[in-house]
Amino acid sequence: MSSSRDGFSSTFGVLAATLGSAVGLGNIWKFPYLTGANGGAGFLLVYLLATLLVGLPVMIAEISIGRAARGDAVSAFQRLRPTQHWGLIGVLGVIAALLIMAFYSEVAGWVFAYVAKAAAGGLLSTDPATLSAAFGGLVSDPASALLWQWAVLVLVGVIISLGVSRGIEAVTKRLMPILFLLLVVIGIRGLMLPGASEGLAFLFKPDFSKITPAVVLVAVGLAFFKLSVGMGTMVTYGSYFRAEQNVPLTAARVMLADLTVSMLAGIAIFPAVFAFGFKPEAGPSLVFITIPAVFASMPGGAFFMLAFFVLTAFAALGAMLSLVEVPVAVLAERFRLRRWQATLISIGAIGVLGSLAALSGSLTADWKLFGLNAFDLFDYVSSNILLPLGGILIALFVGTSWGRAEWLAELSNRGVLANGGVARGLFVLVRFVSPLLIVLVMLKGLGVF
Ligand code: PFF
Repeated sequence: MSSSRDGFSSTFGVLAATLGSAVGLGNIWKFPYLTGANGGAGFLLVYLLATLLVGLPVMIAEISIGRAARGDAVSAFQRLRPTQHWGLIGVLGVIAALLIMAFYSEVAGWVFAYVAKAAAGGLLSTDPATLSAAFGGLVSDPASALLWQWAVLVLVGVIISLGVSRGIEAVTKRLMPILFLLLVVIGIRGLMLPGASEGLAFLFKPDFSKITPAVVLVAVGLAFFKLSVGMGTMVTYGSYFRAEQNVPLTAARVMLADLTVSMLAGIAIFPAVFAFGFKPEAGPSLVFITIPAVFASMPGGAFFMLAFFVLTAFAALGAMLSLVEVPVAVLAERFRLRRWQATLISIGAIGVLGSLAALSGSLTADWKLFGLNAFDLFDYVSSNILLPLGGILIALFVGTSWGRAEWLAELSNRGVLANGGVARGLFVLVRFVSPLLIVLVMLKGLGVF
């Protein structure tokens, strides 16, 4: 362990950085559209269960691995168990990071484009056709899709190459509470719309007829994606944690805060869906067509809309920095590249893959594999295959290789924190419950049996 290694400096800094990774387009874009497309409250319930039984335990496992080993996503496993091959988890993680960034940077590009549109005073309409056309125009124009994505990638690259995210950390720490407040404001506005109760019923009254094995797999995938786990991001961030940090408590706080942001986004969006006649199952475009309608219907809407998209852009930026940090840390630490070289290689690879995703609304729309275009394929493979697979392997690493005694010692900060029943319960979850549940859900969801 080298003492010159970069790291987070305070308990609050650790919390802010970890939350900065978790909160992002997953809350504001993915959670609402998946909930809308998969029937509402039933999906929400399965997602909550997956978060508690699978997402949180894997998150705690990952952070503790990183903190014990003080290494990147590949080295950490090798440092803890040098003669075994668990470093493969980190390799899978790097692949997942590149695939996720390929479509995530595109959606972030849409958000940045909406910042520009909102600043120019556009988008103020409650008409579904007008708003769908505005979004469709952006996605189906190859030049603007690529331009916005590359602008985002350059920005991410510049910030990452400057070093551990001091600047962005300081910024997101201040902006995250404002995003939270703004979501409360539009949530309240949404609740005052005529027809709001229909939206709330959709979000909170479960109808289990929509819950198929494939849908359960999507909910588990979302739980991983949301908490940034299953691919070594939290191993990497855990390696920057302070030795005295309470890992399970930090993870639980991040999970609760993250869920709160998602719920607020749902409450902001679904009443408007029903009030203005949008379709809850609109898919990835849902947020981009319903949110402007809510703002258009309230006083000062132009200003609030601009603020909303700017803050969403910052939230996306925080998540992207943690995604890109995975390959960058591996390249810089294991291959001893300079940080800027590691960044250039990572961003370059993402740019190539990402262009395929960006153009899948136009030029490469017909390039399909398993019936999915590049954008959907990268999303599906990462969330529903690579992250759950990573989750199984991480749980198995802790449960079978690292072992109970060493893990619980790390979790209790070498005996400083009282642990007792909670820690033993966590071990049972990680050793047996989580991996078994994920295996069953994956096999059933992918139609293997
Ligand atoms: N958790 C982020 C979000 O919900 O937007 C996305 C993400 C970040 C996924 C980092 C995975 C990751 F490693």
